[in-house]
Amino acid sequence: MGYFFIKHIHMTAAGLSLALFSLRAWWSVRESPQLQRRWVKILPHLIDTVLLAAGVTLMFMLRAWPTQHPWLAAKLVGLVAYIVIGTLAIKRGKTSSIRAVASLVAIAIFLYIVGAALSHHPWSWWMRF
Ligand code: HEM
Repeated sequence: MGYFFIKHIHMTAAGLSLALFSLRAWWSVRESPQLQRRWVKILPHLIDTVLLAAGVTLMFMLRAWPTQHPWLAAKLVGLVAYIVIGTLAIKRGKTSSIRAVASLVAIAIFLYIVGAALSHHPWSWWMRF
């Protein structure tokens, strides 16, 4: 499989991941029963696994390691933060307002990761200013 094919899978999975997270976060804030649907509990994890596996594959194909490339390290740290705050948004947040704030923070972190990927720099979108 070629590099650009896997990169395409990685980017598509990133888009789907953000879309599904936003939908689940919205349902979580509204306390919608939709959140309990079977596909809603399975599909996002499947897509996130593809996103991570494709990212790690690209890293090996490029032989670029987080210890040498701060933007990769920033992506990994960002991913952990996104997961921790994401579970606060969807599961662990006790009130709707906590879940709403956590959702916005998680989406902001996700966008930071996309910026770090595009600019190849931990300053992410701020590289452009
Ligand atoms: C929420 C998590 C992630 C998001 C949203 C994300 C997003 C993206 C995007 C949009 C690109 C395309 C950048 C471009 O057009 O040049 C990309 C590339 C890439 N990502 Fe990710 N990524 C994520 C996680 C990861 C992880 C965990 C790794 C590694 C362990 C990783 C490794 C890479 C690599 C190596 C590239 C290729 C860069 C290039 O070809 O220039 N990504 N990522």
